[in-house]
Amino acid sequence: MIGVFDSGSGGLTILKALKQALPDQDFLYYGDHRNAPYGHRENEQIVDLTRAGVDTLMQSGCKLVILACNTAAAVALRTLQQNWLENHYPGNRILGVLVPMVEAITGLPWTADASPDVKRQDRILLFATKKTVGSGAYLEEVAKRAPNVELVQKACPGLVDAIEGGAGEQPLRGLINGYVSEIDSRGVSAAVLGCTHFPLVEAYFQDALPTGIKILSQPDIVAAALAEYLARHPTFNTVSKGSVELLTSGDPQAASEVGRRFLSQDICFSAA
Ligand code: DGL
Repeated sequence: MIGVFDSGSGGLTILKALKQALPDQDFLYYGDHRNAPYGHRENEQIVDLTRAGVDTLMQSGCKLVILACNTAAAVALRTLQQNWLENHYPGNRILGVLVPMVEAITGLPWTADASPDVKRQDRILLFATKKTVGSGAYLEEVAKRAPNVELVQKACPGLVDAIEGGAGEQPLRGLINGYVSEIDSRGVSAAVLGCTHFPLVEAYFQDALPTGIKILSQPDIVAAALAEYLARHPTFNTVSKGSVELLTSGDPQAASEVGRRFLSQDICFSAA
């Protein structure tokens, strides 16, 4: 069983793509709805909450956990991998959404930081929460591997709350047009929607961006990366019934309602 952790409902966009790419895997999703959103929290809290969520998933039998939440991956992944995982769950693994996205942005494998590609020049946009942008994690990892790829970061305050709260098309387009109008998108080839909720409004981003800018779809890229990872690490390959179980730290009914709206399908969360 593969664990998928998110601060709340947004990670369902990643889970959906994982399920499509790997239909025979069993997935256990844990949404920390009680403490969402993480995008406004202090780093220490994000680390503590992410650790608790991963712990819940690993105690339930997941040897591999994907941090679907960009904020958690940007702020907490390295700390958990370096200071906690080996002591508590030796042999288990935590992967985040950031690594495959950095690979997609740079066009290089993650291990390429030893010999950076200085020839590759590009400008790429990153839309994310204030916390992910402020962490500088994407900037740092891209700069190490492709120093001439300029990542133009744009925090999107209010967008997660608006999507989560069920805002309609016009207000959502208004917010997105506003973010896009504040950046210089000259010479930009691609944009990353580096937040679990943003694929739900990808079409509005595409409309707001100048023609020709390609959106790098995080759910699809993460799903393809997981499929490759499992092929290379058969110990974590848990091909089984293809089941999906959804747990929440919050109110299961409320989480199920938001989840149904996000996925346009009938889903049901249980209390963790
Ligand atoms: N899941 C978060 C992310 O991808 C967005 C919601 C939150 O701020 O908790 O960054």
